[in-house]
Amino acid sequence: MSNIFEDERLFANRRKNHIFKDKKPLDHRFLPDKLVHRDDQIRKIAKYWVDVLDDVTPSNVTLYGKTGTGKTAASKFAREQLIEAANNENIFIKIEYIRCTDYTTEYQVIAQLCNRLGRDVPNRGWTKAEVVKAFRDLFRTNAFGKKLHLIVILDEIDILLSKDGDGILYTLTRTDNVAVLSISNYLDFKNLITPRVTSSLNDKEIIFPPYGAGQLSDILTERAMLSFHDDILNDDVIPLCSAMAAKEEGDARYALDLLKNAGELAFDENSEKVTSEHVIRAKDRIEHNKITEIISTLPLQQQRVLEAILLLTKKGDEITSGKLYEEYTEISKKDSVTYRRIFDFINELELLGIISTNTISRGRGRGRTNIIKLQCDEQLLETALYSI
Ligand SMILES: Nc1ncnc2c1ncn2[C@@H]1O[C@H](COP(=O)(O)OP(=O)(O)O)[C@@H](O)[C@H]1O
Ligand SMILES: [Mg+2]
Repeated sequence: MSNIFEDERLFANRRKNHIFKDKKPLDHRFLPDKLVHRDDQIRKIAKYWVDVLDDVTPSNVTLYGKTGTGKTAASKFAREQLIEAANNENIFIKIEYIRCTDYTTEYQVIAQLCNRLGRDVPNRGWTKAEVVKAFRDLFRTNAFGKKLHLIVILDEIDILLSKDGDGILYTLTRTDNVAVLSISNYLDFKNLITPRVTSSLNDKEIIFPPYGAGQLSDILTERAMLSFHDDILNDDVIPLCSAMAAKEEGDARYALDLLKNAGELAFDENSEKVTSEHVIRAKDRIEHNKITEIISTLPLQQQRVLEAILLLTKKGDEITSGKLYEEYTEISKKDSVTYRRIFDFINELELLGIISTNTISRGRGRGRTNIIKLQCDEQLLETALYSI
């Protein structure tokens, strides 16, 4: 058999792509040359980091904002600018970007930093104290023959803090010549930090508000010029993507996803132009992929709970936990989990945004009941459940 990817590529090239010039600029990881509407935030980072050019450890900084508000992009942009400025000034500085979904414990982060700075540390096996010592020695001894400044960008830091505590911040903020830039999706990130760390962190906060439709439109226009051939997008496409993403909490990533998926649909159909109708279907496609992905990773019993919720919803019944359990045991027959366990499942499904629950009081003496409601499209859920 010939290679399926080579085949696919040949096939795609042969059908010369009349829609896309280059899809890369629509990818989340693409870093554009300029970030529109984030001047304030980037200048603030610069204001806090500039000290390092005078050989002074800069302030710790925290960026807050919902998903897709440009936090990661802004931090990487500031990083490139600082590296450029430091080269001109002959200051020895490293800015290391760590995504805490990839390195989820203090040990892993510190070991990774050591490795990137040229000090080999095994990914496991040492004690935490040994790793921390190896890291600190890089700054204490004259390891590089000159003074090293380090700025660590900890992206998605909430994950690390909730899993492994705030030891990582303690260690970094108590090492000479090290500054931290934390990026958090949650405003209550400080709840994950203990007082011993709060004082040494002493961070400057920068807020990234959600984008409005007009701002999203500017972002998309820039990217569309790089990605699409001329005159391929109907005039209403970018405004529609922007309006839809503005509703989804001003998420630029979602706006880019809509635009990309709309283009892909137009390409698949050999359509001459990308239209607003493609955008609307792109929305379904994205949601469908998201739900399918979530559901396919759920444990079997939880899928069955979801199936029970779907069946009850279709019957038009009000769904109480008791009723749900009945329906669920119908489906799973002998290998059911306990009633108690169902509550955990309900909680998890709610966290994933697939269902919502509402506690109501039935009146005096009759206690309280949980009413469960499906939060995603029935049809989508049904297709997803039965395609697994
Ligand atoms: N102001 C902006 N100008 C251009 N592109 C942006 C801007 N803000 C966000 N983006 C793009 O939107 C996507 C999501 O941004 P990102 O920085 O990953 O958001 P966050 O880290 O806040 O979730 C990325 O592809 C990014 O390049
Ligand atoms: Mg990010």
